[in-house]
Amino acid sequence: MIEIRTAVEADWPEMFAQDVRAFGSPFETEARPLIRRTLDLDRFVVARDSSDGALVGVAGSFALTLTVPGGAQLDAPGVTWVSVAPSHRRLGVLRSMLDELHARHRAEGAAVAVLTASEGTIYERFGYGVATLVDEVTIARRTARLRDPLPGPLRSRAVEADAARERVEELYRRWHAATPGSVSAEQFWELFHADPEWARWGGSARRYLLHPDGFVTYRVDEKDRAQLDDVKALTDDAAADLWQTVLGLDIFDVVTADLPSDHPLREMLVDPRSVKTTDRKDRLWLKFLDVPAALEARTYESDGDLVLAVDGVPYRLTVSGGTARCRATEEAPSVSMTGPTLAGLYLGATAPSTLDRAGRFAGESTALRIFSTSRQPELGTSF
Ligand SMILES: CC(C)(COP(=O)(O)OP(=O)(O)OC[C@H]1O[C@@H](n2cnc3c(N)ncnc32)[C@H](O)[C@@H]1OP(=O)(O)O)[C@@H](O)C(=O)NCCC(=O)NCCS
Repeated sequence: MIEIRTAVEADWPEMFAQDVRAFGSPFETEARPLIRRTLDLDRFVVARDSSDGALVGVAGSFALTLTVPGGAQLDAPGVTWVSVAPSHRRLGVLRSMLDELHARHRAEGAAVAVLTASEGTIYERFGYGVATLVDEVTIARRTARLRDPLPGPLRSRAVEADAARERVEELYRRWHAATPGSVSAEQFWELFHADPEWARWGGSARRYLLHPDGFVTYRVDEKDRAQLDDVKALTDDAAADLWQTVLGLDIFDVVTADLPSDHPLREMLVDPRSVKTTDRKDRLWLKFLDVPAALEARTYESDGDLVLAVDGVPYRLTVSGGTARCRATEEAPSVSMTGPTLAGLYLGATAPSTLDRAGRFAGESTALRIFSTSRQPELGTSF
C-alpha cells in the first residue's frame, strides 16, 4: 500500500535526498536551506510505503504565472520535483501523485499546468504536450559581425552581480509580461542571486550585461566559452545593442546560447554561417485543465469559428476581433485532436500546417489558422 499525502517539514530532508539521488545532482547538504526556500511544501505530495514508512515518491508544483499570446498571465502550476524511488518504479506511484496534484490544481481554478520534462515519453500520457521549443546555437564570435548600421553609442554595460540585482528582476518581470510562453521567476530570485558554486555546473560566477530594455547573463564554461544563460530584450534596439556588446567579448572564440527558432540573429549578421544550430529542445510542456478558460485567455491574429474536439470533447470556438468565446457543445466537430497536440498550437510553438503534415489531427485544417502566431513562444526560466 502506498500512502499519498501533503508534504510536511519533517519530510523535507528525505525529499531532498531522494531528489539528489533521482537526478544525480551534485548538490551538497549546504544547498538544502536555500533550495527549501524555493518550495511551498503545501503544494507538494509525498508517497510513503505503508509497510515500512519509507519515502518512495515526491512531486509538487511552483505557483507560476504563464504569459499567453496577447499578454494575459494565467496562474499555471509548474509541476516539479517529480521522482519515484528505484525500488518502487512502474507501480503507478507517479500516476497517483500526478492525479492528486492535477485534482488540486483544478480545484484552485488553474486552466493549465506546465512542466519541463527529463524525458520525452513520460508526460504525454498525462495530457502534456510540447508548448515551447528552443534552439541551442553556437556562435563563432571572431567571424560574427552585425550588419551596418552598427548600433551605437552602446548603452549596454557590464555590471557586477550586486548592482544588477534589482534591475535584472525588474527587466525579467517586464520581459515576462511581454513574452508568450514565459513563466514568472519570483520563487527563484534568492537562489539566482546567491549563485552558489554548486549551481554553476562547472561554470564561472554569473556575469551581467544590462541595457535599459534588456539583459544578458553568461558564464564562462569549462571549455572557456561564453555561455549565455539569458538573452532577454524588450526592444529590437536593445537586442542589437546587447548582441554588439556580446560580440565584443574579446578572448572568447565561441559563444553559446539557447534561442527561439525565429530569433533574428542570423539575419542580423554579415556572415550567417557564424551561427550554427547544434540542438533543438522541447522546453515547456503544457496540459489543459480547463480548455475553454485557456482558449479564451489568449488572443488570436485572425477571426474564425470552428467546432474543435479535444480528447473527444467538442467545443465551439468563435474568435471575433481577436478575442475568443469557447463553450462545450453537442455539435459534430470539424477538427479533432488530443490535448497534447493542442498544447503545440496554444502558445504558437508549432504551426497548424506542421501538425497537419504530421497527421496529428483529424478534420479540416484551414480553420486552425486562427492559432498561428507571429512570434515563437519562449520559456525564459527553468524550473
Ligand atoms: C519518471 C518516474 C517519476 C516514473 O515514476 P513511476 O512511479 O515508475 O511511474 P508510474 O508507474 O506511475 O508510470 C505511469 C506511466 O508512465 C510510464 N512511464 C513511467 N516512467 C516512464 C519513463 N521514464 N519513460 C516512459 N514512460 C514512463 C509508465 O510506463 C506508465 O505508463 P502506463 O500508465 O501507460 O502504463 C521515475 O522513473 C523516476 O523517478 N525517474 C527519475 C527522475 C525523473 O526522471 N523524474 C521526472 C522528472 S521530469
